[in-house]
Amino acid sequence: MTAEEGCVRVAAVGDVHLDADVVGRYRPALDHLGLKADLLLLAGDLTRHGTEEEARCVAREFGGLPVPVVAILGNHDYHSDQQEGVAAVLRDAGITVLECTGTVVNCAGVRVGVAGTKGFGGGFAGACASEFGEPEMKEFTRHGRELAARFGESLAALDCDVRISLTHYSPVPETLLGEPLEIYPFLGSYHLAQAIDAAPEVGLAVHGHAHAGSERGATPGGVPVRNVAHPVIKQAYNVYQLSSVLMPA
Ligand SMILES: [Fe+2]
Ligand SMILES: [Fe+2]
Repeated sequence: MTAEEGCVRVAAVGDVHLDADVVGRYRPALDHLGLKADLLLLAGDLTRHGTEEEARCVAREFGGLPVPVVAILGNHDYHSDQQEGVAAVLRDAGITVLECTGTVVNCAGVRVGVAGTKGFGGGFAGACASEFGEPEMKEFTRHGRELAARFGESLAALDCDVRISLTHYSPVPETLLGEPLEIYPFLGSYHLAQAIDAAPEVGLAVHGHAHAGSERGATPGGVPVRNVAHPVIKQAYNVYQLSSVLMPA
């Protein structure tokens, strides 16, 4: 089925961690992307240490593709304090980079809205950080909550037929299965799931970051969640069909 028949094909991968020695690993599979997908999502950790030099490797690997490419940055892309430069290099290569912002891609008549944020940790119901005690703990917790709130506003505001959530950190614990339980609060936040579930017509939530996690989960509201970290999906990208929300009941 194609977008023309009301079904959008969404390719996605995260955590490609590009540096000069990785360039060329993904490109052979990407050259035929136009036959298999209507857009490509990059779920952060696109570089190894967040340098502009590494970003140029990402631009070579993911630039000039036959479908729109929408990306968010991950924590690795912030490591060298060059995140603005990294994003600029990607934008110069024609990649749309989101951070608490959204974009609408027209896929053969279907308006697909994508809102994205790196997101942040904080944990999940029953095992999460709280805004209490030391200023550092309050700041850690508040940062994740505020990012999720701004992301939620950008997701809900999209003028489109179907929405996609694109984050680096996970909105749910299910897709972290395989990771040590002790580090769940550093891998995602329930605030992201709340933002996703508060928006209408969200058909898919994509994230990365959890290299040892699991691919499939869902938000409490029933939105499919997919962890597309490269070590999880073990190929250049996965393709998901966005059909359920588009089809009339
Ligand atoms: Fe990563
Ligand atoms: Fe990460």
